[in-house]
Amino acid sequence: MVRLGSSSMTGNGSNNTTINRKIWMLLLAAWLIFLVISQLEFVRFGNKSSPRLMINLHEGDGFFLVAVIVNRVFAADLFNITAFECRQWIEFMGSAGVGHIYWYDTAHGQSESQEENLRPYVESGALTYHRFYSLFPMLESSDCHYEQENSYAHFLANYNQSSVWALEMDVDEYPFSPMDTFPAFLARFVQRRAETSEVSQILLQCMFFLGNPAGDPGNWMIERYQRRKRETEGRIAGSRSRQKPIFRPSLVESATSIDAHMFSMGTGATIVAEEEEMRMNHYWGPRVTNFGPDTPELVEMLVEDSSIQPTASYLKRTRNIGTQS
Ligand SMILES: *[C@@H]1O[C@H](CO)[C@@H](O)[C@H](O)[C@H]1NC(C)=O
Ligand SMILES: *[C@@H]1O[C@H](CO)[C@@H](O)[C@H](O)[C@H]1NC(C)=O
Repeated sequence: MVRLGSSSMTGNGSNNTTINRKIWMLLLAAWLIFLVISQLEFVRFGNKSSPRLMINLHEGDGFFLVAVIVNRVFAADLFNITAFECRQWIEFMGSAGVGHIYWYDTAHGQSESQEENLRPYVESGALTYHRFYSLFPMLESSDCHYEQENSYAHFLANYNQSSVWALEMDVDEYPFSPMDTFPAFLARFVQRRAETSEVSQILLQCMFFLGNPAGDPGNWMIERYQRRKRETEGRIAGSRSRQKPIFRPSLVESATSIDAHMFSMGTGATIVAEEEEMRMNHYWGPRVTNFGPDTPELVEMLVEDSSIQPTASYLKRTRNIGTQS
């Protein structure tokens, strides 16, 4: 019998050698296991300090998590969404663990087109750009519902096999986790949720950030609005609570009646995420007072919430996306 610790006392040389060899083998095994695990982490989440979209987040032939967005930048927009805000959203999503973005630009004319502004992302392979009105006819009755429904249907028809998961949000909507503010937090969350049950859709509760912007006007959107309602819009699945989905595009039942707040899934369960784990910050700002000043009633409804600031500061430090254009 060889017992660790006692062997050297016996002065048995051959036992000693055996034990040393065993210890070295154990250490070697531990080191190999560590190497394998650290590689797996790398493959799963990409390089955590990568300053660009993590386009290496492939799973099989496709991506693990993509985002689809429908957006129009127009001069009369009092909320002031410009190419600068589009870049912020793209960089934020990349940092959250989104591997690729499908962008449907609903520009109503060449002057509104974001094609040139988004070209660097297209060229780096991070973004697929579609001019909506090059794909679909502009009708008398064209409105944002027509644009949204057909964009999502186009995404489903053409890209439902290209990723395991997809996130659908607007340019003023940002996923946020109060408990994980590190890069790739969103991919990590989806992986965690998808591991434990037969989930095919995860709805994020909507947290409204309201009131007029504050601070430096050159700040990022997520810095300008840091007052929110006390509660989310609730847990009732879908449009009533303004939720937005993370879903498995290949399992969407049909694209005939599209609800931007919740897809109709063919298989698997739809769950609502706990807001402490993951929510959606919706930057609605002064639209709530029709762009008038904050009212006392509004101010009374709001609490300060700057918990996204470390993420904003990190992104501003590591991304060079210029300023308001
Ligand atoms: C939009 O820009 C105008 C002009 O710079 C400014 O007066 C206004 O406060 C901005 N509105 C918002 C919601 O940022
Ligand atoms: C998903 O993709 C497949 C294969 O391309 C296609 O047949 C199917 O109609 C698509 N699903 C939806 C909902 O568009």
